Amino acid sequence: MALPKINPTTTKSWSNLQEHFTAMETVKMQTLFANETDRKERMSLTTDLVSLDFSKNRITSQTIDLLVALAKETKLDKAIAAQFNGAVINETENRQVLHTALRDFTAMKPEVVATLDQMKQFSQAIIDGSHKGYTGKAITDIVNIGIGGSDLGPAMVTEALTYYKNHLNVHYISNVDGDHVCEILKKIDPQTTLFIIVSKTFTTQETLTNATSVRKWFLQQAGEKAIAQHFVAVSTNLPAVASFGILPQHTFTMWNWVGGRFSLWSAVGLSTCCAIGYSNFEQLLQGAHKMDCHFKTSEFSHNLPVLLGLLSIWYTNFFKAETEAVLPYTQYLSKFVDYLQQASMESNGKSVDRNGATIAYQTGPVVWGNTGTNAQHAFIQLLHQGTLLIPTDFILCETSLHGKENHHDILVANCLAQTQALLMGTHGEDISNPYKVFQGNKPSNLLTLQKLSPESLGALLAMYEHKIFVQGAVLNIYSFDQFGVELGKKMANKHLSSQF
Ligand code: F6P
Repeated sequence: MALPKINPTTTKSWSNLQEHFTAMETVKMQTLFANETDRKERMSLTTDLVSLDFSKNRITSQTIDLLVALAKETKLDKAIAAQFNGAVINETENRQVLHTALRDFTAMKPEVVATLDQMKQFSQAIIDGSHKGYTGKAITDIVNIGIGGSDLGPAMVTEALTYYKNHLNVHYISNVDGDHVCEILKKIDPQTTLFIIVSKTFTTQETLTNATSVRKWFLQQAGEKAIAQHFVAVSTNLPAVASFGILPQHTFTMWNWVGGRFSLWSAVGLSTCCAIGYSNFEQLLQGAHKMDCHFKTSEFSHNLPVLLGLLSIWYTNFFKAETEAVLPYTQYLSKFVDYLQQASMESNGKSVDRNGATIAYQTGPVVWGNTGTNAQHAFIQLLHQGTLLIPTDFILCETSLHGKENHHDILVANCLAQTQALLMGTHGEDISNPYKVFQGNKPSNLLTLQKLSPESLGALLAMYEHKIFVQGAVLNIYSFDQFGVELGKKMANKHLSSQF
């Protein structure tokens, strides 16, 4: 058996949590903080690269104990071991789930080493200009053509690591909207552009349509032979790549044991690797590996992804929260929520359990958000005074990369103020105008990076990947398939054939 198949609601811990919730429902965090002077210290966790303050949650130590008991009773330890050991935990697709093997330099598969080496050589030649375009000019622009995991991860990481970027301009074409394609083509010169077609399956309608249009546009200006210098591909489907006219030496392999939404660590990250250089890309992998080690070896009560996953289950299943907000207080992470939405919602948006039974509890919440402070001037009103309970993750970097201290002080002050305002509200103040009352008692996590670097970003992303894993494992669902995307694709094809 690859993964345990325990309905969490049948466990003793779930009943205990239900009973505990009845008591906790009315407990105010304002009171908990007043009574527990060491609450913040007790409910904080520091790892090498990411720290978590989870004290501003509607929990006590007993809640954590009960949630950890739930994780134990649903055999999360076995699930974690099964994943890292390469068991076929994606049973519905008969696949292993080994994105963690892409970043473990202590025991790397030879095919991963070979592909990383290919990425290293190739990105170096692009960056130093030794790889020439068809008129002998160096490459200045890279266009990544892919969608979903073949776009969101690399696009987000490239944006997040702008500070570490070289001279190359990197563009992302994802939507099959031809206007989007034309707008990107307006910005580039075929003589100096490299196109990276990224598709795990190489069958995705949007990507193949976009790649074909781009190829046509390119051939209006260059000869067929030039394709070799300007088009490369990343895929598991090598025959399809070859029939697109891409040379074997410009084909970067990925594997079925890497899910699309977890693939930014593979050659899917080639655009990022070109943009920030191989050594920074390797740092990203190293940072993720540090988080993998933390996740694999830490006690559940001191395990960052485990705590985050369990807290999420606490809110969605007991408080009946339907959404979770994520607010990174760094503009570099402006694409982070889009990426996280796929990682989380494509994984845990399921309603049939691992025994094939229809589920009668809550699985994956809606994930949404935007960067702070922009969010404060847009939707944060609803978090403070709306009727919905929305647990929120705040992500903060202690130092600014450009050293603009006056800005950074304001940014940090705003982030901390929001967590404090959500917690305290106007508690203890004598306010006669009911419209100006803030109830407080709104839960949040504060995640802190010392500074945004390839390494710390890697750790942050791996942390969320494992949080998603914990949710899926405990909730007895298969997190690594995505059959829910298929019906719409079929129907779109029907519409297409009836239209033309
Ligand atoms: O349709 C959903 C999906 O399969 C995602 O899971 C995936 O990331 C995306 O499409 C793109 O798939 P591919 O890389 O095979 O083109």
